[in-house]
Amino acid sequence: MSVVQRPAASAAPRSAQPPLRGDAVLRRLDRALLRVVHAAGRLVPEGLNPLEQAGGVANVCLVVAILSGALLLFWYSSSVHLAYASLEKAGASWLGGLTRSLHRYSSDGCVFFVLIHAARLTLARRIAGPRWLAWVTGWLLFVLLVLVGWLGYWLVWDQRAHRVALGTADLLDALPIFSEPLARSFLSDDGVNSLLFFVVFFLHMLLPAGMGIALWLHVARLSRSRFFPGRTLTLWILGTLCAVSFLFPATSAPPARMAALPQRFTMDWWYLFPLLLTDRLSGGALWALHLIGGLALFSAPWWLRRGGSAGTLRTATTEASRCNACETCFHDCPYLAIRMVPRSDGSTRYATQSEVDPSRCVGCGICSGSCDSAGVGLLDWLPPKAERRRLEGWLEAHTGDPPPVVFLCAEGASAEWRVDSLNGRCDALPGCYVLSVPCLGWVNGYLVDRALDRGAAAVVLAGCGPEGCAYREGFAHTAERMRGRRKPVSKRGEAGDSRIHLLAHGPGEGAALRAAVDAIRRGEAPRARAPVGARAWAGGAVLAALLGGFAWLGSDLPYSAPPSPEAELVVSFKLLGRLQGGMRRLSTEELEALPVHMRPKDGRVPTDRRHADVRLRVRVDGRLLREERYAPGGLWGDKNSVALETIPLASGRHRVEVELSDDPAANEWPYRYEAELEFPRGERRVVLFDREHGFRCP
Ligand code: HEM
Ligand code: SF4
Ligand code: SF4
Repeated sequence: MSVVQRPAASAAPRSAQPPLRGDAVLRRLDRALLRVVHAAGRLVPEGLNPLEQAGGVANVCLVVAILSGALLLFWYSSSVHLAYASLEKAGASWLGGLTRSLHRYSSDGCVFFVLIHAARLTLARRIAGPRWLAWVTGWLLFVLLVLVGWLGYWLVWDQRAHRVALGTADLLDALPIFSEPLARSFLSDDGVNSLLFFVVFFLHMLLPAGMGIALWLHVARLSRSRFFPGRTLTLWILGTLCAVSFLFPATSAPPARMAALPQRFTMDWWYLFPLLLTDRLSGGALWALHLIGGLALFSAPWWLRRGGSAGTLRTATTEASRCNACETCFHDCPYLAIRMVPRSDGSTRYATQSEVDPSRCVGCGICSGSCDSAGVGLLDWLPPKAERRRLEGWLEAHTGDPPPVVFLCAEGASAEWRVDSLNGRCDALPGCYVLSVPCLGWVNGYLVDRALDRGAAAVVLAGCGPEGCAYREGFAHTAERMRGRRKPVSKRGEAGDSRIHLLAHGPGEGAALRAAVDAIRRGEAPRARAPVGARAWAGGAVLAALLGGFAWLGSDLPYSAPPSPEAELVVSFKLLGRLQGGMRRLSTEELEALPVHMRPKDGRVPTDRRHADVRLRVRVDGRLLREERYAPGGLWGDKNSVALETIPLASGRHRVEVELSDDPAANEWPYRYEAELEFPRGERRVVLFDREHGFRCP
């Protein structure tokens, strides 16, 4: 038998959210963010606030980015030597320019709205418990999105792309995966690796498919996922993107030149913000930061939970004997947490009964509102029958003018209020009986009708609104029950009873909720909040200008790389040191044991496979500035030694001497280079060596 807990006399609203570390800070930040969201909402008609549906709006932007990207292939050339010019050519035609600009601004819009979506859900503390999957895949999506954009900017092959390429090389060169540093590919214009450029192009095309899989997982635990916003909002977004594209056509920076690395330029901060790190940290530090930061972020659903994974998590339960297998709760649960399973109570009247999967249940109580026989819900915590009797008791014992009854969602405007659940009093709403509920979806039509039958002057259903509902569909389900469109319906609501009021006020809107309830108590209609007609059109245009302007602004803001020396000398070589030991002849048995193609022609092999280190000496104007040894590459030390040395210099003319020795045992420097070189300010000169070409200064 289940034990019914007695509610505290005066307590915080009955929230089902698991307690998190830093709850108070998150709530404060949430209210600040919601102030902006609600301000935007006041400009446009209900249901059309893009900040309320940021996840869906991000999806629209993503689709536009994919389609415009595919169209851009008509102009774009994936050859590193033609890429820049092909985009300039695209920009010269109106259609090419529009396609390119749409591609850029829809991608920017996608990051912008994903950040809003992530900020809203994080601050609303929708992190822990069954939401871990949405959290982990959400951040994975964000990482993939930024990576796709980062690679996209590489494909322009302008000055920004040069920085992106060097940043990526820094990161990858810290891993022992390439036989020679990737950074060597970016030393001279003619040496840029075309294959690498094509790989970048290929990844830019392929990664969005990975995003598709992550997106599918992201919403896998949600029913009726609102993948896209409604048609009006979608058209509004498309219009805004086209307007920004016409007004501010996307452009490239000057073409990439490997000899020059500009220190100041404007860039798209939505995607290139990692330059702040790649330009300042070494490859090892970048990896450490990514690994530690990534681990902390992805494991947040577990370590943020107060009391660890054993912390309070309310989940629904079922009472099989009360279930008449109507399947309403099964369809209504927004988190796919209810299944219909074969009967367990021996009843032959119904073949199935409902069952809750606790690993998916977030404890919203919406199923409680779905069931008119109290067969499912938060039965141990908020048993519907006991709550109904309590409500009836208040109304029956009441003397004087009939009071309104307020069903108050714990996630909405009331988060800081105290509610006395024993006698239904709340200081913030004097003169009303208040029942605190975890989500407005907990309320069903039967309960509302009962309250009106027992003498309530009005019933106020105060929640966060259809878009702001902490449990996605609770507000909308109850609104539909009141209109007779969802079972169990309110008969009075269906008949158009004007005493039923649905109020939408999110966290931080306590004053507005209080004013609206006050008006209802005085018998007046609460003030409508959303604009209509010409005001709605004007508001929509203002919001489009604000959001479009913001996305555009972030796409072209100045950036300064850390100060670099006046000029640089880069010396890079690839050279195989001499063999360390001598040669020995293989025995007949040894030769026969080898496959034919691996048998040496002269039958001799080195006694030691390892080659000697290669030494480098660099003198500038007669001063020895660098003297290093480089171990051979490969697992057995039988591959080239590779070096990439950067030496800061003052600009002007310098005498440069480079010497290489492939035999450290003998004090010989068989490879020598000597030249008088001009070092222009802000540029670098490169001296390259390999056995095939000797020394070169491209
Ligand atoms: C490309 C990136 C992303 C896209 C396109 C996206 C899109 C969506 C969409 C369409 C939904 C369903 C909304 C609904 O039907 O109610 C959703 C749910 C969700 N998203 Fe994202 N999202 C992204 C990234 C993120 C990130 C970075 C987070 C991290 C905070 C996140 C957290 C969540 C959570 C927790 C839910 C479930 C909401 C709930 O349980 O009530 N998403 N997302
Ligand atoms: S709504 Fe109630 S009666 Fe219907 S299936 Fe769910 S638990 Fe059973
Ligand atoms: S509707 Fe019921 S079963 Fe579904 S998540 Fe909410 S409380 Fe859990």
